[in-house]
Amino acid sequence: LLLESELGKLVDTAPPVQRERVRKEFDGFTDLFKRFLEETGPSVNWDKIEKLPPDAVREYNDLETPTADIIHQMLNKLVVVKLNGGLGTSMGCYGPKSVITVRNDLTFLDLTVQQIDYLNKTYKVNVPLVLMNSFNTNADTEQVVRKYKNLNVEVHCFNQSCHPRISKDSLMPIAKNLDVDHNLESWYPPGHGDFYESFNNSGLLSKFVKEGRDYCFISNIDNLGATVDLNILNLLMNSSEKEHEFVMEVTDKTRADVKGGTLIQYHNRLRLLEIAQVPKEHVEDFKSVKAFKFFNTNNLWVKLPAIQRVLEQNALHLEIIVNGKSLESGVNVIQLETAVGAAMKCFKGAIGVNVPRSRFLPVKKTSDLLLVMSNLYSLKGGSLRMSPQRMFPTTPLVKLGDNHFSKVREFLQRFSNIPDLLDLDHLTVSGDVTFGRGVSLKGTVIIIANHGDRIDIPSGAILENKIVSGNMRI
Ligand code: UTP
Repeated sequence: LLLESELGKLVDTAPPVQRERVRKEFDGFTDLFKRFLEETGPSVNWDKIEKLPPDAVREYNDLETPTADIIHQMLNKLVVVKLNGGLGTSMGCYGPKSVITVRNDLTFLDLTVQQIDYLNKTYKVNVPLVLMNSFNTNADTEQVVRKYKNLNVEVHCFNQSCHPRISKDSLMPIAKNLDVDHNLESWYPPGHGDFYESFNNSGLLSKFVKEGRDYCFISNIDNLGATVDLNILNLLMNSSEKEHEFVMEVTDKTRADVKGGTLIQYHNRLRLLEIAQVPKEHVEDFKSVKAFKFFNTNNLWVKLPAIQRVLEQNALHLEIIVNGKSLESGVNVIQLETAVGAAMKCFKGAIGVNVPRSRFLPVKKTSDLLLVMSNLYSLKGGSLRMSPQRMFPTTPLVKLGDNHFSKVREFLQRFSNIPDLLDLDHLTVSGDVTFGRGVSLKGTVIIIANHGDRIDIPSGAILENKIVSGNMRI
């Protein structure tokens, strides 16, 4: 009650035209907060996790390829959604992550728009692109999307909710007014699970349903492998099977992905299990690549009228992820978040599709950037394809030292151009290291410059299965 009265006071500080929207967002926050207080204890009972039924996850290679005549029809029922609420801070950039340049002077957003433009031109369709922005990314994104107006892509933006951070001690909002731009630390976007409510509140959901659109394909804007896949679309729109209102693309878990969310069968339904939900004593079990073979790529296909139904019936229940933070001011806060994939259990006929690893190409660190900028890939219609000259379709394992490579600007300054990585398996670089032009890295290469030393890899060097350390000359 105290919280509701505090929120009421905050609403009163909003300009009258914004009050209705703010009130709706605060209602969403209040629901989340009430559940946070009520739902104590773990959200899954470990002993009740069931074995995945044999038909729960389809093999991508078993899916049928649609015939040309129905592709047009299917695509005109599709909406592509990119989750674009996040900032580029973890790679040392200001502004939305989606405006970071990733390849051929093109940003994540440019590549996404190129993909849809290519699709629309190739199949003579009109697939719209929807960007879910947050208060952190909206203004910059709106400005950037203007440059796409001459392309063959209808771009729509909507804003996800803006929730108040609450003090860890008092559980009260730390914001004193609704001047979000001048008090950014007091607010947060509540995770991508907010998509369903905010998409509905924006009016776009009902607009697309009225137009006869049937499914949306949702993915992280920083996953360069998340392109529209016609075989999955065909499974949704043209198969004789019972309807699948929700499809989660999963992929085989390796030891590098043990923290990713996995798919479980629970209370006779498929659902997402995130590491944050796992009781401490079972974290090692959760990480097992044998017990939990798949992880969630966050590429999701969801039936639009089903989203409306679930919301109308008040049946959307997403597990709360409690994220604790320490602000620059020293105040400890918590923010309550939800994940978009957690809605799987609320939909009928939900299944997983085990897709090739190439559909999961996230760029989280500069080491990922090194791969996507390199000759391991070529670009066609905005999509990255792995070079046929690579012997194995796996990507090399790359570790770049945090102190000298973690920010995009520093990273770029350290490479005169991106080395040839076609035959690379492992690369570890640490310390003050620079690379000249036309360097080739093959097999396993480890370059370690100790504190106070610097290693310059000269132009044209070929390093194959080599360890370079100290201030060694090549
Ligand atoms: P993150 O980068 O924060 O998550 O967001 P992650 O580390 O990949 O892990 P998962 O996917 O949460 O498991 C993933 C995508 O979601 C968007 C980001 O912009 C990014 O594209 N996002 C995240 C939002 O749109 N809103 C949010 O509140 C959080």
